[in-house]
Formats: sequence, C-alpha cells, structure tokens
Amino acid sequence: MAHKSIAIDGPSGAGKSTLARQIAKELGFLYVDTGAIYRTLALAALRKGVVPSDSAGVLAVLQAITIDLRHGADGLQHMYLDGEDVTDHIRTPEVSAGASGVSAIPEVRAFLMDMQRSLAASRDVVMDGRDIGTVVLPQADLKIFLTASAEDRAQRRYEELLTRGTQVDYDTVLRDIKERDQRDSSRAAAPLCQAEDAVLVDTTGNTQEESFALLLNLIRRHFAL
Ligand code: DC
Repeated sequence: MAHKSIAIDGPSGAGKSTLARQIAKELGFLYVDTGAIYRTLALAALRKGVVPSDSAGVLAVLQAITIDLRHGADGLQHMYLDGEDVTDHIRTPEVSAGASGVSAIPEVRAFLMDMQRSLAASRDVVMDGRDIGTVVLPQADLKIFLTASAEDRAQRRYEELLTRGTQVDYDTVLRDIKERDQRDSSRAAAPLCQAEDAVLVDTTGNTQEESFALLLNLIRRHFAL
C-alpha cells in the first residue's frame, strides 16, 4: 500500500514544526522538517563566507558538501553537514536569513527535491515547509496551510529564542518575520502560497494545545483514523 503523506506549509513562526512533530509522534508517522535542509546549506555557505545572494557561490558550496538528514531512535530529526551534527547550529537568526536567501535559488530547490521525495516514498510522513503541497508532494493525501498573524508568529518566535538563550527584542523579531514573509512569498521559484486543495488553518490566538487538537481532529477525520 502506498505511504500516507501530510503536507504542512505556511509562513515562518506559524507553529508548523512543533505541531507537525507532535502530530507525527501521535500517529507514528515520520516527521520531516524541510526548512532544516535549507538551513544546513545556509550554514555551510556562511561558514565558507559565501553570501546567499551569490547564486554561483552557493551552488559551488552545495556541490562540495554532503547534507544528511537522519532520524534518531527518539524520532527527532538531526541534520549532518559533512558528517558533523549541526542540528543545534541552524537555528540562529543569521542562518534563518541565509536559509531564506539560498532557498530562493531555483537550482538549489531542484537539487534538494529528490532528498525530500525519497523520504516521503519510504514512510508515512508529515512534511513541513513552504512548497510541500504545491511542488514537492503535489499528490499528498492531505495538505494543510497553517498560518497566523505576523504579530502572533513574532511573539512565539521571540519566546522560543529567549528560551534558547538568544538575546533578541520583539520588534526585531517582528521585522525579521515580515521581511522573510515578503521574500518567501515574492520569490520566483516555488513561492510560499496555499495549494488550491489545501485546508487553511489559522492559529491566531490559539494556544499550542488548541492548535494541536484542531489539527489532529482534522487529520483523523480525513484518514478515518
Ligand atoms: O521553516 P524554516 O523557517 O526552518 O525555513 C527556513 C527557510 O527555508 C525559509 O525562509 C524558507 C525556506 N524554505 C523553503 O523555501 N522551502 C521549504 N520547503 C522549507 C523552507
């Protein structure tokens, strides 16, 4: 029987990764965070002093490195750059901005497509990103477009960064989110947009638990689980 796939797309900070991870755990699906792949490339470029706007430079970096995505026994996704576990190094604001930049390069997206599709072919997956329902898995069994107001998303990201010990102020986080929304939605290659057949879920004002219950209910109904 074909594997089940759930595509969760939406802007940064909508709670996609936390919710997708929880859903995957609950249902026994593999959780795939595709943003982490772009982040790993961005980290490699930053380390080599290549700016994201230098497409040729970024492509040269991509050709010279090995990116691996592996799941531990705990089901958590780890990213490896040339064998080094960089999972904890790809969440900084610099890498976030870099990932947004490198992900706008069409050749980068094409190169990373196979990795994403083969993961979905291997297991039941919950995959989160920007173009999963539109480009990577257009045949996904269920597509969800998860969003929330920019202010709500900034507040969550702000709290998350503080928890991680990163010193930031709310206004900077909000400005970064708006800039990233703008870049991710206006790029020519696979811009962030809702697939025609995706279910729109707006989590503005919801608690984490409310959003989780809402999504789980929707998914259970869809698959009759
Ligand atoms: O989901 P995230 O914040 O970790 O993603 C980092 C960047 O990667 C984001 O700015 C957009 C880009 N991205 C993408 O273009 N396509 C995806 N499927 C996932 C992420």
